[in-house]
Amino acid sequence: MIRKCLFPAAGYGTRFLPATKAIPKEMLPIVNKPLIQYGVEEAIEAGMDTMAIITGRGKRAIEDHFDISYELEHQIKGTSKEHLLHDIRALVENYTFTYTRQKEMKGLGHAVLVGQTLIGSEPFAVVLADDLCEGEGKGVLAQMVELYKKFRCSIVAVMEVPKEKISKYGVVSAKEIEEGVYMVSDMVEKPSPKEAPSNLAVIGRYILTPDIFEILERTEPGAGGEIQLTDALKEQAKNNMVIAYRFKGKRFDCGSVEGFVEATNYFYEKFKAK
Ligand code: UTP
Repeated sequence: MIRKCLFPAAGYGTRFLPATKAIPKEMLPIVNKPLIQYGVEEAIEAGMDTMAIITGRGKRAIEDHFDISYELEHQIKGTSKEHLLHDIRALVENYTFTYTRQKEMKGLGHAVLVGQTLIGSEPFAVVLADDLCEGEGKGVLAQMVELYKKFRCSIVAVMEVPKEKISKYGVVSAKEIEEGVYMVSDMVEKPSPKEAPSNLAVIGRYILTPDIFEILERTEPGAGGEIQLTDALKEQAKNNMVIAYRFKGKRFDCGSVEGFVEATNYFYEKFKAK
């Protein structure tokens, strides 16, 4: 039902410099797999078959990753290492990867708008690959697709965050309508702890209805001169068309060094146990 997943991956990743000077943040590995591949696997688990990736200058490694490398295939064929390529090969063979470039970094909202050409006019998912999620039972996007079937409106994934950390996030003002499911009436981007309307912070998983594009087109640049996705979602929320979903599982902020190390330790334990 939701076939396409958008990956805004054009940002500079300045919090990770110098590592991200020539390598896209999305290609940094957690153990032996780049961040974006975790996101793609989550989208596939949720039933999606088309990955729409927003890139920019210096991001070609992402395209090369989701493509065949003939030289490498040739080198590794019949050796004991061939199994290491098994998973990525299956992704490349069975799913569609499409790309467009965001030429100027004018914010997440702008990156989503640039993606319209890849999405068209259907509901779609958005994954920010530096938010690495591990769902409980099933993946976070799969949980959100279930909810979409019921509500048929935009959905943002949220988690409870302590007051002192809330100003790093977009925060929803919302009323709980069933366990873990909230009707959003307003949203604030990076509020001070005093101004925060709740402790529910938006993380990098969304399902968006396609009217978001028309709203983004007329959204003026907000905080930092960037077109904020939050501002467009606020408009949808005015018509009760945004649900916040307190997902079941874990989330690592791999855009920060601390979260990246935490994720590495966590996934290494799983890797060793395999
Ligand atoms: P971030 O706020 O994490 O920005 O963007 P960033 O540039 O990647 O990282 P820092 O803060 O400089 O370290 C959230 C997501 O939105 C994408 C980023 O690639 C990231 O996945 N994004 C942001 C774009 O695609 N285009 C933009 O203009 C801004």
